[in-house]
Amino acid sequence: MSTLYRYYQATDEGALVRLWNLCLPQDPVNQENFRHKVLFDPNLNREGFWVAEEGGHLVGAGLGLVRRAPLGDLGLEPERGWISFLFVHPEFRRLGIGRTLLQRLMDFFRARQRRLVQVVGYAPYYFFPGVDPQAYPAGLSFFKASGFAKAFEAVAMARSLEGFLVPEEVRERTRQLRQEGFEVGFWRPEDTLPLLEFARREFPGWYPSVLDGLQRGLGHKIVVARQGQEIVGFTQWENSYNDPPQGAAGRFGPFGVSPALRSRGLGAVIFYHLVEAVRQQGARYLWLGWAGGRNVNFYLRAGLQVTRRYEILKRELT
Ligand SMILES: CC(C)(COP(=O)(O)OP(=O)(O)OC[C@H]1O[C@@H](n2cnc3c(N)ncnc32)[C@H](O)[C@@H]1OP(=O)(O)O)[C@@H](O)C(=O)NCCC(=O)NCCS
Repeated sequence: MSTLYRYYQATDEGALVRLWNLCLPQDPVNQENFRHKVLFDPNLNREGFWVAEEGGHLVGAGLGLVRRAPLGDLGLEPERGWISFLFVHPEFRRLGIGRTLLQRLMDFFRARQRRLVQVVGYAPYYFFPGVDPQAYPAGLSFFKASGFAKAFEAVAMARSLEGFLVPEEVRERTRQLRQEGFEVGFWRPEDTLPLLEFARREFPGWYPSVLDGLQRGLGHKIVVARQGQEIVGFTQWENSYNDPPQGAAGRFGPFGVSPALRSRGLGAVIFYHLVEAVRQQGARYLWLGWAGGRNVNFYLRAGLQVTRRYEILKRELT
């Protein structure tokens, strides 16, 4: 067997998407989606995008990314690299192709002085937050055998909006917060500057998402919490940044409340305000692709269920 390893080239697109759907059946893509999230990613560098070819056919691919464009105030994260995906045709597994593709990606990271490589934990154009051990047990074994260890966990969550009702305690909390000077509602033009300032200050990683939504004229998909002239919380519906150009149907988030004002029910008021409005617009389903930590409890209380579990893996480079 003489496997050829080379950079991805433009004519690979159709074959690569077909191979993707064979190898990652729980995360199907089409060419448009692939183009938006891979080829239009400003961080794409062909030297980090490797394919394996056998007898003129693609049998494997792997994508390594380092930031060329800063993610808001998080900047370029110059010590980090991310493996967005890596897969091998089922009939060509356990032959060392995955290992060789991974070596090429690691060489790409080393040449760029990276100290930490993650699978994946990358934003904004991620397909999945990490490896789903249930869907891809071989993927997990492969990375663990290659020196990667679990860094943290994330989940995807969802709920049907049938039967959804705003709990009375949230309505009561809305009234109380209004008396305390907080107002929750959809974005208005005068919210623009305070919202951008708030996102930049408190959630620099989400600032580009907010900016993108406003630039595309999708302010009507953003709910904000105001305190006087200040914005103190926000969320986005079907954000166009993760899933350009229009956002994915039913996707919720990002979602953030000022750290100084947490645990007062403001998040619940924002969440339910949005959900009630999108229900009225006809939405039947709500989902989010990446949640972790205490946020999971918030969503469980709001009736969401965990639909996928992920391990975000890391390996230090010396
Ligand atoms: C993960 C994947 C790319 C591995 O490709 P591969 O070409 O079979 O990998 P290699 O042959 O180079 O395996 C290297 C080592 O990884 C480990 N490994 C790979 N597959 C394994 C499996 N199914 N079970 C246990 N260990 C495994 C082994 O230690 C192996 O070495 P060995 O064969 O000498 O024992 C392939 O299984 C795949 O495409 N899976 C679906 C996609 C996926 O899950 N990707 C990760 C998320 S993007």
